[in-house]
Amino acid sequence: MTKVKTVAVAGSGTMGTGIAIVAARAGFRTIVFDTRQDALDRARGQTEAFLRKSVARGKLSVEDLDAILGRWSSTTKLEDLASGDVVIEAVFEDLRVKHELFSALDRVCAADTIFASNTSTISITEIAGGSGRPDRFVGMHFCLPAQLMKLIEMSPGLETSDDTWQRAWEFALQMGQQPVKTKDTPGFILNYFLIPYNNDAIRLVEAGVAEPAEIDRAIRTALGYPMGPLELLDLVGMDTQRLLCEAMHGLTNEDRAACPPLVKRMIAAKRLGKKTGHGFHRYTDTKMFGA
Ligand SMILES: NC(=O)c1ccc[n+]([C@@H]2O[C@H](COP(=O)([O-])OP(=O)(O)OC[C@H]3O[C@@H](n4cnc5c(N)ncnc54)[C@H](O)[C@@H]3O)[C@@H](O)[C@H]2O)c1
Repeated sequence: MTKVKTVAVAGSGTMGTGIAIVAARAGFRTIVFDTRQDALDRARGQTEAFLRKSVARGKLSVEDLDAILGRWSSTTKLEDLASGDVVIEAVFEDLRVKHELFSALDRVCAADTIFASNTSTISITEIAGGSGRPDRFVGMHFCLPAQLMKLIEMSPGLETSDDTWQRAWEFALQMGQQPVKTKDTPGFILNYFLIPYNNDAIRLVEAGVAEPAEIDRAIRTALGYPMGPLELLDLVGMDTQRLLCEAMHGLTNEDRAACPPLVKRMIAAKRLGKKTGHGFHRYTDTKMFGA
């Protein structure tokens, strides 16, 4: 069984940036790939800023910061991922884009390299079907923000081999994460619960039951969550909530996943959440990643 030494992360957006921090922090050589140089530059800046904050908070030594950054590299050339023992994909939530990427990776990577997808809603078996190696494919769904959240929902596709599953599970533990096994189903565990939960909070606002701040305070106080649902939605973004709802509703046809009309109106008004400075709450700081 090949020991994982090098982790390739494809896609350096919100999730890829966080996943690469998790991998490099755990001691793996980490190569981040994106088609856009500006996305890689932003990922590097956000990574440095996050690690500096960890040092300032006494959670990381300066030596460790240097070592983590030394293990982190980036590229716009797919061929540079050839040395990856695991590739974690975090590109756009689009089956065609994922298939194109994985079939190109299949030609570049070693035969025993494991492919993993961080998809939130697309079937793992379906993505694996276009990867050229469905037996060495697994779902690894990290949570936002990946660099802080320990959970990974791990899902085998229909063709995932036992050996791949075992290696991927051990790799998740070696990264210091807490894997949970789920079936390959829409929303896995977390989003199956979270998308309708967020929708319910939006519907309370729509119905004028209470102000957003009051709803958040009630949930935080009663359930002990660090954030209320509308604060969380402001981080997720209304645009993303709409996509998540549409994907999950399209797959399950369950009313609980249907996108509330208020989300569409807020998108039209550019009230996307923290990133535009206004969602259910107002923000003066629109930086999303501790940068
Ligand atoms: N944002 C979340 O809360 C969240 C949580 C868990 C999982 N996910 C999943 O993670 C994945 C990425 O989501 P995100 O929010 O990080 O997206 P994002 O839009 O922030 O980043 C996507 C990145 O992928 C890059 N990209 C697109 N096509 C590419 C290709 N062919 N090759 C290399 N790079 C490419 C883009 O340039 C961009 O930098 C999606 O599948 C999403 O469902 C998202």
